[in-house]
Amino acid sequence: MDILNKVRNYREEENQLKWEGTFEEFLAIVKERPEVAQTAHARVYSMIKNAGLNEQENKKQFTFFQNEIFGLEESLERLVEEYFHPAARRLDVRKRILLLMGPVSGGKSTIVTLLKRGFEQYSRTDEGAVYAIKGCPMHEDPLHLIPQHLREDFYDEYGIRIEGSLSPLNSMRLEKEYGGRVEDVIVERIFFSEDKRVGIGTFTPSDPKSQDIADLTGSIDFSTIAEYGSESDPRAYRFDGELNKANRGMMEFQEMLKLDEKFLWHLLSLTQEGNFKAGRFALISADELIVAHTNETEYRSFIANKKNEALHSRIIVMPIPYNLKVSQEERIYEKMIRESDMTHVHIAPHALRAAAIFSVLTRLEIPKKTGIDLVKKMRLYDGENVEGFNDIDVEELKKESQNEGMNGIDPRYVINRISSAIIRKEIPSINALDVLRSLKEGLDQHASISDEDKEKYLNYIAIARKEYDEIAKKEVQKAFVYSYEESAITLMNNYLDNVEAFCNKNKMRDPLTGEEMNPDEKLMRSIEEQIGISENAKKAFREEILIRLSAYARKGKRFEYNSHERLREAIQKKLFADLKDVVKITTSAKTPDEAHLKKVNEVVARLIDEHGYNSTSANELLKYVGSLLNR
Ligand SMILES: Nc1ncnc2c1ncn2[C@@H]1O[C@H](COP(=O)(O)OP(=O)(O)O)[C@@H](O)[C@H]1O
Ligand SMILES: [Mg+2]
Repeated sequence: MDILNKVRNYREEENQLKWEGTFEEFLAIVKERPEVAQTAHARVYSMIKNAGLNEQENKKQFTFFQNEIFGLEESLERLVEEYFHPAARRLDVRKRILLLMGPVSGGKSTIVTLLKRGFEQYSRTDEGAVYAIKGCPMHEDPLHLIPQHLREDFYDEYGIRIEGSLSPLNSMRLEKEYGGRVEDVIVERIFFSEDKRVGIGTFTPSDPKSQDIADLTGSIDFSTIAEYGSESDPRAYRFDGELNKANRGMMEFQEMLKLDEKFLWHLLSLTQEGNFKAGRFALISADELIVAHTNETEYRSFIANKKNEALHSRIIVMPIPYNLKVSQEERIYEKMIRESDMTHVHIAPHALRAAAIFSVLTRLEIPKKTGIDLVKKMRLYDGENVEGFNDIDVEELKKESQNEGMNGIDPRYVINRISSAIIRKEIPSINALDVLRSLKEGLDQHASISDEDKEKYLNYIAIARKEYDEIAKKEVQKAFVYSYEESAITLMNNYLDNVEAFCNKNKMRDPLTGEEMNPDEKLMRSIEEQIGISENAKKAFREEILIRLSAYARKGKRFEYNSHERLREAIQKKLFADLKDVVKITTSAKTPDEAHLKKVNEVVARLIDEHGYNSTSANELLKYVGSLLNR
C-alpha cells in the first residue's frame, strides 16, 4: 500500500503545483521571478548549479552527477563550464549541437538520462518552473505573445530578452479564440515528462529508408483537412514530432551521426537559428537543448567526409572518456550490480577492485616519463601516494596523454563476466579469483580485441592478480594479528625489554634461573628485519624506539604495541611469519590440531564480522593465502 500512497502523494503534489491563469497574470509572475523566463540552456545550467558544488583541493564536483557518474569529474566540469555555462548566458555555443563523444559504455547515455530525469524533477520546483501557452502541442513560451515591435520595451521593463516568434498555430488561435487579446490568452505551468512527451524528446535512427522526417517535425493530419479546408491551416497539422515535443526542454539524439543528412539539416537550422521548418508553415521557433552521442570511430569518419564540412562547425564535441580511477571504477560496478539481478550474490571484498585494476590498466597509456610504470601511474591517478611523485607529476602525466581513456575494457564487459562467473559457481558467492578467471576466459570471446591487445590484456590480468595477492595477504595478516593481539603485546614487551638493555648496555636477567645474560640479539633482529632495518641501522632504530618510550613515560602515557607505526608493522609481520606455519598447516593438513582450528575459526569470524566476508569467501581467502605462502 505504501507505494500506492506514494503514487497518490505524487499526484497530489502535482495538483498543488498546477497553475493556470491569463497572460496578464503570468506577467506578474515573470516580474516577481524572472527565472521562469529562462531559456532551455539556462535552465539546465541552473539545475546543475543549484544542486550544489563540492570543491576540494581545487577540484570541482557537481552534486548533480555525484552519486551516478563516477570518476568523470574533469569531463563533467568541462561540459558544464565550457558548454552549459556559456550557453546559459546566451553565448554562441548554445547554437551548436552538443555531441558527447566517447567509447562504448562509458556513461554517455547515463549522463543524458540524468539530465532528463533531472529536468523532470527540476520543472516541479520553484526555481525550475516552466510556463506555456495552454493547449499548445509545443508548449510554446507565452512571452512569444509579445509582438516583435514591443520587445525592446519589454526588455526595458522586465530586463528579459525574448527570442522567437509566435507559432502559426498560436497566431491563429490568438485571433480566433481570443480576438487578438494577448492579455487574455490562457497560460499554464507545465511539468517536463518524457513519458508524456512534454519538454523531453528522444530520437533514435532506424532504417534510413523508412525513417520519416515527420518523426522529427510532425505531419499533416489528413483527417482534419476537410474540416479546416486547407493543408496550410496549422490546425490541420500535428505538431507531434520529437522536436516539437522537446520544445522548452531537451532532445536526445542517439547515434546522431548515423542519421540521414536531411535530418541533420533540420537540427542545424534549429540550433543555429532557433527555428525549424514543418509542413508548409513559416519557420517554427523552438528553444531546446540538443544532445547527441557517438563513438570516436563514427565521429572520425563523419569528420573525414567532405560533405559534412558545414556541419562540423555547428557541433561542439565533448569527450567523455572512460573513468581512469580504480576506486571509482569499483563504484561503477557496485552501482551496476545493485541495478542488476545479481543483488543476492555475495561478492567477496576486493573482487571488484581486482577487476577495476584490470579495466583501468587497459585504458591507460604507457607513461613516457622514466621511472614510472603503468601500475604507479594507475595509483597516482587514483590519488594514492607514490613515493617520489607529486601532484605536478600527475598533471604532467595527464598532459602527455590527452586522449587517454578512449579505449580499453568497458564496464559492461566486466559486469557480464561477473555474471557468467556467478552462473558457473554453485554457491552465490564469488571472489576476486573467480572474477579474474572469468575476465580472462572472456577475452577469447570478445570480438573486438586484436591479438596484440589480447596479449597486453592477459598481462594486465596477471598484474591485477599480483595486486590482489598482496591485498589478500595483508587482509589475512590483519585478521590473524588481531586474534593474536595478546601474542603481539607479549612479543613487543619482550622486544622493548631487550632494546632497553641493549641501549643502556645492561644485562638481562633470566626470569627462571635469575642468571645474567646478554640482550637477545637474535630476537631483536628477527623483528627488525621484517621492515628492512639493516645491521648498520639497527642501533639508530633501537634508540629511536627508546626515545619514544621515554617520551611516553614522561607524559604518563602507556606505550602500546601500535604507538610506533614501524614497530607495529614489524611486530605484525614477525607474528605473521610465525603464523605462516599455522596457516599452512591448517589449510593443507587433513586434520589440523584443535588449537590451530580454534585460531582459524577466530580468524574466519573476524573476517566475516569486520571485513565483509561470508563463510565461503573467508574460507576461500584463507585457503588461497595459505597456498600463496606455500610457494
Ligand atoms: N563513469 C561512469 N560512472 C557511472 N556509471 C558508468 C560510468 N561509465 C559507465 N557506467 C555504467 O556503464 C553502463 C553503460 O553506460 P552507458 O551510459 O550506457 O554508456 P554509453 O552510452 O557511453 O555507451 C551503465 O550502466 C552506466 O551506469
Ligand atoms: Mg549509449
